[in-house]
Amino acid sequence: MHYTKKEVIQFEKVSFAYGKNKDPTLIDLNFNIYKGEYIVVVGVNGSGKSTFGNLIAGLLKKYSGTIRLFGESLKSENHANLIQKVGVVFQNPESQFIGSNVEKDLVFAMENLCYSPNVMRNKLAQIVKKMNLQSILFSQPSELSGGIKQKVAFAASTIITPEIMIFDEPTSLLSPVEKEEIWKLINQLNKKRNLTVVELTHDINRALQADRLMIINKNKIYFFDTPTKIKEFHLAPLIEALGNNLPLFYQLVIALLKNKIITQPIWDEQSLIKKLVQWKK
Ligand SMILES: Nc1ncnc2c1ncn2[C@@H]1O[C@H](COP(=O)(O)OP(=O)(O)OP(=O)(O)O)[C@@H](O)[C@H]1O
Ligand SMILES: [Mg+2]
Repeated sequence: MHYTKKEVIQFEKVSFAYGKNKDPTLIDLNFNIYKGEYIVVVGVNGSGKSTFGNLIAGLLKKYSGTIRLFGESLKSENHANLIQKVGVVFQNPESQFIGSNVEKDLVFAMENLCYSPNVMRNKLAQIVKKMNLQSILFSQPSELSGGIKQKVAFAASTIITPEIMIFDEPTSLLSPVEKEEIWKLINQLNKKRNLTVVELTHDINRALQADRLMIINKNKIYFFDTPTKIKEFHLAPLIEALGNNLPLFYQLVIALLKNKIITQPIWDEQSLIKKLVQWKK
């Protein structure tokens, strides 16, 4: 385990509804997330993943229960300072573009935090190189595709080194190659900078790589543990959350489980091959 057991996000009996007469979107959430953990959250469309991310980011205030960041209640006077330590890449990159061109958008958050011109220049140069944004640096939002805007949103939110990052379906508009690029960067931020990462997704590869996977089902946390702890009875909500387009390997694992050829999910190809070879003997 590469992370230390220091709580950075704590939920105690947290419930949330969009309006007084609305049914709650999330009910009775109780958990701790520790510094440096890589958490993946899955759930069907409309299950409350974005709501969950926005609660952590301090953007939704009318919840019941207690949310603590770094040990301090989000409802304390320190709210503004606390939420400054949380970066979000929103699901819709349109809503995140603030500058009139890409460069201005990337610099905006750094200016807000009063970084010196030298630091800003260095950080800008680094991220532009790392994410290959040179050719679009002076493009305006209207000239960019959704995928590029998503990359810019990623760059703009991670340039200021927050302590917690929430990625809300950060690769939904990207090509397979670009997805890999972003996932590599997320992994680097998590492992090298010990950043606490909460990624909301429908992608099974990400789900199975998490330090801990959270499945939200019927407004509640249905499962929150290391992916190796997934049992057969967890599979239906997991598959529902991930959609029908699972890669062939995972479809095979599920078919083997359903036919009782294996009794526990085996998510790693080599281990599955070993198991099948033994089974044939
Ligand atoms: N601003 C809002 N006002 C009222 N209801 C909302 C608002 N935002 C979301 N909802 C509702 O809350 C529920 C949870 O929505 P949320 O966007 O958190 O789900 P999600 O899991 O992120 O979905 P998706 O996979 O489609 O992104 C849905 O029923 C949605 O219609
Ligand atoms: Mg969402």
